[in-house]
Amino acid sequence: MALYTPIHHSSSKLSLQSKLFSTKTRHGPTRTQTPHVSTFEEGQLEQPKWAGETPLSRFVAALISIKPLYKILKFGARQVLISTAEKNKIPWREMTKKILESEVYKEFETIQDTCLVYPDYYLNPFHAYDDGNLSWLAAAEAEAATMSIGKRAIPNASSVDEANQVVRGNWLQAIEQHYQLCSVNSTINDILDIGCSVGVSTRFLADRFPSAKVTGLDLSPYFLAVAQFKEKEMVPRKNPISWVHANGEATDLPSNSFDLVSLAYVIHECPTRAIVGLVKEAFRLLRPGGMLAITDNSELSPVLFTLMKSTEPFLDEYYLTDVEETMTEASFVNVYSTLTDPRHRTVMGTVP
Ligand SMILES: C[S@@+](CC[C@H](N)C(=O)[O-])C[C@H]1O[C@@H](n2cnc3c(N)ncnc32)[C@H](O)[C@@H]1O
Repeated sequence: MALYTPIHHSSSKLSLQSKLFSTKTRHGPTRTQTPHVSTFEEGQLEQPKWAGETPLSRFVAALISIKPLYKILKFGARQVLISTAEKNKIPWREMTKKILESEVYKEFETIQDTCLVYPDYYLNPFHAYDDGNLSWLAAAEAEAATMSIGKRAIPNASSVDEANQVVRGNWLQAIEQHYQLCSVNSTINDILDIGCSVGVSTRFLADRFPSAKVTGLDLSPYFLAVAQFKEKEMVPRKNPISWVHANGEATDLPSNSFDLVSLAYVIHECPTRAIVGLVKEAFRLLRPGGMLAITDNSELSPVLFTLMKSTEPFLDEYYLTDVEETMTEASFVNVYSTLTDPRHRTVMGTVP
């Protein structure tokens, strides 16, 4: 089966180096002389021809600005999402119903920061939900939507679970390798997952680093309520995950308090100014030697871009933002990007 092979862990620092550093910096040369040992590919993001001020992008924007047409596009995008998920054996409607009929609502009060001021971009309709991420329906559907990420990236996988194990496994492995090579600290003790949504990425991090204290942070108290509810249903961990309702651009968490900050599939949902804010805040939160890992879309086909753009208002800005440069400008060093599966790249950097 032609799966995208995850890299395999090796105790040899030299072989790790060959694998990881066969990626390129955005502007720099290839570092390794032995590309055959690498299963990761260069993760540089070229601006897609259809993003920005291009005729296709302008045409899509014009279509979206016509209200009745936007409604049809939005409806179409949602139907495609649900039917594709169900075709791939993700029981979307069943999972949603289970959450909506559960005791999840009790978690909301314990998690919501009623004083939180939401950034303006967050209050727009989003992902075909009129209330964006601030609704129970969005929260109840989020895990099924997240599961679809893996299957789209690894269509040949024999199951959704296998696809997600490959996508998340490669991401975690890239993080471990970068940390091992570039960080002066030996262990990852404190992890912050910014934009944790309903906690899928957070649980992957907590499973991979069981001795670390893991915090999931998000702007949506609905998503966090689902995250906390689902975690309570699972076997208790030695180090329970903490959930924080805050803006990742201004968390109020203490400086120099984390070894790893993750932004998984967050920044394609943000305007450039928020991406810059998130990267700067991550830098403040990390200890010297700590690392930031940003994983997100590499490229999209024009068709998918058009469909997604109707429900993802900041896709253009994401594709026009130079993430590596943003990290370098925020003073991160060892900034490398790597394609961790055919659809996603992971950009990593260290605090000096
Ligand atoms: C696609 S979801 C992330 C999925 C999750 N990290 C995973 O990998 O399973 C994007 C999340 O980013 C959150 N988000 C967007 N802007 C944010 C911000 N400024 N601060 C914190 N969370 C933010 C949204 O609420 C949403 O839950």
